[in-house]
Parts: sequence; C-alpha cells; structure tokens
Amino acid sequence: IRRKPIIAGNWKMNNTMEEAEKLVAHLLGLIEKRDREVVICPSFVCLSRTAELLKDHDVALGAQNMHYEDNGAFTGEVSPLFLKEVGVTYVILGHSERRHIFGEKDDLINKKVKATLKHDMNPIVCVGETLEERESNVTFEIIKNQVYGSLAGLEKEKMGKLVIAYEPVWAIGTGKTATKEDANEVIGYIRKLLAEKFGKEAGDKTRILYGGSVKPANIKELMDMEEIDGALVGGASLKAVEFSEIANYD
Ligand code: G3H
Repeated sequence: IRRKPIIAGNWKMNNTMEEAEKLVAHLLGLIEKRDREVVICPSFVCLSRTAELLKDHDVALGAQNMHYEDNGAFTGEVSPLFLKEVGVTYVILGHSERRHIFGEKDDLINKKVKATLKHDMNPIVCVGETLEERESNVTFEIIKNQVYGSLAGLEKEKMGKLVIAYEPVWAIGTGKTATKEDANEVIGYIRKLLAEKFGKEAGDKTRILYGGSVKPANIKELMDMEEIDGALVGGASLKAVEFSEIANYD
C-alpha cells in the first residue's frame, strides 16, 4: 500500500525571527522532491512570518502544540482558530517533551486531537516509550495505552487526516537511533492497533512516522522499511542543508 511520505521538521524552542527567515529562505532553495510532503514546525511566534515565506511553495506549515478550546480564559494558550488563520495544516500533539516536561497525559492529548480534526487540520500524534520502559519489556503495552488513550472516541470518517509519530524517548536528541527493524516493528504494531480499533482502512492509510535522531545518513534505510511513512526530525531540521538532504532522500 502506497502512503504519501511526510518529512516534518520540529524546530522545538529554537530560531529567532531572523534565524527562521534565513533558514526558510535557504531551505526553499534546496528542497527538490515533489512526491512527498515536507512540513516545518516553527515556534508560535514565527508561524505567521514563516507562512508568508512559504506562500507559493510546496512546503506545509505545522505548529508544535495547541489548546483544545476555540477561545476563553486560558492564559498563555494558543487556539486552533489562531493556527488556522495563519495557515497551519499540521499540529504536533503529545510530543514526549510535552508529556514529560509539561505533564501532558493521554486524555488531554485526546481533546487536542479531536479539536485539530474538528478544525480540519492534521494532528501528528506522538507516542513512544522511555529507556526504562524498553528495558523492562513494556514497550508494546505503553504504546498501546498511548495510542488508544490519545485516539479514544475518534470518528472513523476523520481518520484520514491523522498522522502518528513513533518517537522512542531514548532516541530523541541523543544520537541513538532505534534500529530500522525495531522502529518498523513498533510502527507495524501501531498500524495493527489502528486496524483493530478503527478498521482495516485506518490501519492501511494512516501515515506513521519515525522520530529520534534522524539524519541524512540514516533516512534512506528508515524509509526503505515497509511500515515507516516518514520522519519527524528535531535537531537536524535546524540546518537547511541537513534537513534538505533528509527531505530529498532517494
Ligand atoms: O520531534 C522531533 C523529535 O523529538 C526528534 O528529535 O531529531 O533531535 O532526535 P531529534
């Protein structure tokens, strides 16, 4: 089954406006391939300027988080309406840094996923086990809880917009990439969970990305794996040449 690959760059809390402008301008000159989606996810502050720079280019704009309500007394939060207004089409949700540093749990992530779909944007829902969990052989149980918890109650008709990112926490920013076989196995398992819960079509069609120390040197072997539909790239997305080499993988 052919699913359109996605290469997404998560800038995390990096890049001032000036740095963002330089990076995007450089990157746009380097991206070549058209048979895949390329997404960049700047900070909230840089979204609107980045949207202007991406206009007329085949690169999508993503956000790194979102609140689930449209508006109200939620000091410091960002509404789906604000994201829609500036042209965001992808929203990273439940990233391990949100889960571990900011205490986000699956029920909160679930509300955000539903809000993203309600506003016709694509959630990129992140799941992944810690090193301790992997070493205690509970990876599959953890993944199952995160997938079912964050996707609880989703309507089958909206599944087409869903993207999942499998990011083993121990591989994020550490230089340690999961082996391609391990990543493929867990992603295949996630696909099986989706099929069980939401039907075969959801399993077959949902794009599931791998994230965790993706670099130009390992993207091709990851993308050659049957189950892996793309990458969520952190550190290497901050450098135009590196990110373009990842996005232009053969
Ligand atoms: O969202 C991206 C991931 O956390 C991966 O980050 O590529 O720096 O390991 P990394």
